[in-house]
Amino acid sequence: MTTRSDQRGVRRSARRWKALVTAAVAGAVLAATVIFAQTADAASTLGASAAEKGRYFGAAIAAGRLSDPVYTGIVNREFNAVTPENEMKWDATEPSQGRFTYTNGDRILNQGLSNGSRVRGHALLWHAQQPGWAQSLSGTALRNAAINHVTQVATHYRGKIYAWDVVNEAFADGGSGGRRDSNLQRTGNDWIEAAFRAARAADPGAKLCYNDYNTDGINAKSTGVYTMVRDFKSRGVPIDCVGFQSHLGTGIDASYQANLQRFADLGVDVQITELDVQQGSSQAGIFATVTQACLAVARCTGITVWGIRDSDSWRTGQNPLLFDNSGAKKAAYTSVLNALNAGGTTTPPTTPPSGPVNTNAWYLLMNRNSGKALDVYNFSTTDGGRITQWTRSGANNQQWQFVDSGGGYYRLKSRHSGKVLDVYNFSTADAASVVQWTDLNGTNQQWRLVDSSGYLRLINRNSSKALEVQNASTADGANIVQYTDWAGNNQQWQLIQVG
Ligand code: XIL
Repeated sequence: MTTRSDQRGVRRSARRWKALVTAAVAGAVLAATVIFAQTADAASTLGASAAEKGRYFGAAIAAGRLSDPVYTGIVNREFNAVTPENEMKWDATEPSQGRFTYTNGDRILNQGLSNGSRVRGHALLWHAQQPGWAQSLSGTALRNAAINHVTQVATHYRGKIYAWDVVNEAFADGGSGGRRDSNLQRTGNDWIEAAFRAARAADPGAKLCYNDYNTDGINAKSTGVYTMVRDFKSRGVPIDCVGFQSHLGTGIDASYQANLQRFADLGVDVQITELDVQQGSSQAGIFATVTQACLAVARCTGITVWGIRDSDSWRTGQNPLLFDNSGAKKAAYTSVLNALNAGGTTTPPTTPPSGPVNTNAWYLLMNRNSGKALDVYNFSTTDGGRITQWTRSGANNQQWQFVDSGGGYYRLKSRHSGKVLDVYNFSTADAASVVQWTDLNGTNQQWRLVDSSGYLRLINRNSSKALEVQNASTADGANIVQYTDWAGNNQQWQLIQVG
């Protein structure tokens, strides 16, 4: 048994060793980085490459095309996020007032979740694609119907949606910077915040986004949205993200990245939500510019393209997507993949630790120091089974769900065994083993989440010690123990939602 001061000694020498090695190989690393980035590190699909940068790469998909094997093959191979192109819109989900139909929306959801993808919900309220009955309502009747719609749909999908476009396209084009006239706008200027509040109440785990087009650079319209988001943040209206549709022509605004950054600086995530680019000699380059801009903005959490093959696009005849009609990769595809693989190292913050954790989702917990995943050793299903770190496989023994114990504490349940993380025998000592055990909701099974600048520390309720990789090991099979919380990198975990 090592003593506390032994442990510290090991830590210090491990750190010193690491510093020396880092200094010694720095030159070699610098020389090798370029090659490394393009060979050993290079992922071969958009989703895998984006994931290496802590982001997603998604596509809008249509329920009616899921029976096409070429289409679905591309979706499953390339993308780790999906958006329903039309299936969760108001006309699709509430065709007559109070009668909700989720068949096609659920198809998209299940296609995404079964493939380990995030699902973006699109869109709860919008002036377009409203059912006829809503189009003919006004005033209080419309407002009440709209808020009920938000509540019902967000409740149906509660816990399953990564981010909702709560409100779509509410700002006017041109130089006014004001709201677009619509039946919803005529119910009162506060309709947007009312929608966000209803969405938060219905699904506290989903990120809530405002989404629009022609906001892809610094201009009067995007500044109108910016001013609204700033106001929402200052008044505590629940908003987490802004979507930039990015339906682009043959050019891209020089302020594209700066615009994303100014929104991120307000304290919201930004996402590229509906990217497509008109065909022409600049197509591949514009796709790359958008990708690079997202990678350069730490809070840009992902990119979604609006369709799979050119023949699937809503922009008929403009061939604005990454795959041609036969499903072959276009130059634009290669350009995006290269930009992702070469991209910077900025990692967006994961699930905001101060905000609600999605208790229906499954997460990998990646250790900040080792880059390895929290893992039930050797797929044990027994009480007392060892918890280790292991190279990320994404298998069920590396997937964990947060089970709410109340008071800000959670158990961590293994998808493989159904057992929860447990400090063995209620120990309060440094270096005590963490094992899996039947879920008894004991205080030694409950963990508080502490924000560590985008990473999490997990503090045990019984012992007040932190979950850590023992001795800051970087090896497969290293022990997971509890130790005094010193905010070490080996005590910090990144959440990656995988289901
Ligand atoms: C489009 C779909 O792609 C089409 O299939 C449908 O006919 C019309 O809507 N902005 C949005 C998307 O937010 O919902 C729109 O999708 C494209 C513009």
